[in-house]
Amino acid sequence: MGKVAVAFTSAAVVAACSVAAVMVRRRVKSRRKWRTVVEILKEFEEGCDAPVGRLRQVVDAMAVEMHAGLASEGGSKLKMLLTYVHDLPNGTEKGTYYALHLGGTYFRILRVHLGGERSYLDVQDVERHPIPSHLMNSTSEVLFNFLAFSLERFIQKEGNESNSQGVKRELAFTFSFPVKHTCISSGVLIKWTKGFEISEMVGKDIAECLQGALNRRGLDIHVAALVNDTVGALSLGYYHDPDTVVAVVFGTGSNACYLERTDAIIKCQGLLTTSGSMVVNMEWGNFWSSHLPRTAYDIDLDAESSNPNDMGFEKMIAGLYLGDIVRRVILRMSQESDIFGPSSSVFSQPYVLRTNSVSAMHEDDTPELQEVARILKDLGVSDVPLKVRKLMVKICDVVTRRAGRLAAAGIAGILKKIGRDGGGGITSGRSRGEMQMQRRTVVAVEGGLYMKYTMFREYMEEALVEILGEEVSQYVVVKAMEDGSSIGSALLVASSLQS
Ligand code: BGC
Repeated sequence: MGKVAVAFTSAAVVAACSVAAVMVRRRVKSRRKWRTVVEILKEFEEGCDAPVGRLRQVVDAMAVEMHAGLASEGGSKLKMLLTYVHDLPNGTEKGTYYALHLGGTYFRILRVHLGGERSYLDVQDVERHPIPSHLMNSTSEVLFNFLAFSLERFIQKEGNESNSQGVKRELAFTFSFPVKHTCISSGVLIKWTKGFEISEMVGKDIAECLQGALNRRGLDIHVAALVNDTVGALSLGYYHDPDTVVAVVFGTGSNACYLERTDAIIKCQGLLTTSGSMVVNMEWGNFWSSHLPRTAYDIDLDAESSNPNDMGFEKMIAGLYLGDIVRRVILRMSQESDIFGPSSSVFSQPYVLRTNSVSAMHEDDTPELQEVARILKDLGVSDVPLKVRKLMVKICDVVTRRAGRLAAAGIAGILKKIGRDGGGGITSGRSRGEMQMQRRTVVAVEGGLYMKYTMFREYMEEALVEILGEEVSQYVVVKAMEDGSSIGSALLVASSLQS
């Protein structure tokens, strides 16, 4: 071999070696980054862990806090608000009623016709619209004028079909925020939640605000009841099945209400009702216990929210927040590695990842996770490798599993408080015999998170059985109530006007 050829060959060998070295270095680097990502995931998973033992501690804490909230005003983070609803609709109601529901993401208007028999409930018209985002931090005048205008349009569309023409229309205002009631038809806003921020409205009578706006538009509509969405769901549940004593909403926000004996509402001594009970709006979104599995991502989410140090439980289980917890985990991963490529800065935008995307990614059953790829692409993040897409699904799973399990612990906490958990509840004045008797108990559930996110629902139901045990769970029926909050509120107007 000539000198030139030898020199050429060794140059080629050197070049090949350095290419190989670069490739090896790159591979090592990428493996190191992947290891970092896996460690972040592992740490997050451990932080979210909610084994049944921990859930039982949450159950106990919920029951204890319920007692404290009923014992004195401000005695617990659970407000345990009186609703002045003591007679739930029983099926004999007649007439046509309206409901306007201001939720967290949507507002709905509907008309219900009742024929005096349980089977004759006709939901005649339902309008559902997203709440324009500018309204959430506008003024009370703008908000209520908008609601009154929407109702006016709804009524104009009725034409001559409605049998309530010429008669004053009775309306339920389903208002999905914490209210301190003075009677069923009036109450003041305690605080906003779910990103609403119209500060001048806090302390104002909500029913009065709506009635004023309706009057200004010359509408002959009477705001006959102001109803929390959970209470609406309970009413519809009870109307169909009188074993319904608890209702829970898992939507943009989360909350629960239940039927309580008036003598257990110690903070309101001498409260008398014909039925001997009253629906209590727990406002469980604000529940807190050191047993809740909280991570650094939850702490940051809370600190950066519009209501820091508030609604801690809601921020771990409700639809508004699940997507943002997932986003925060991804953001940290992309900051410490480049697995999401150059466009990953999109994840620094708060709330850019919505819970409906989380649910679609989580439930993507295509072998190549095409739905995950599509959602990421829509966010501007393209060409994400399959193993990273699988990672996304795993993060969604961890967040939603924790949410579902904690939601179940919340429900079991209520069952414990009212002695329907098979264990006899905690000291609540019941006699021993009464405590041990297991009765059928229906829990009405409503809200988009529960209705539309199958994995959330399954995790919740699975954990409820784990907590209560197979035997007791047979007596606990969880029933979905589509549009229950609005329909149930209209039923409540009917029953309150009839009694
Ligand atoms: C509100 C509750 C409401 C729940 C579900 C929470 O943010 O405080 O009043 O019931 O969301 O909509």
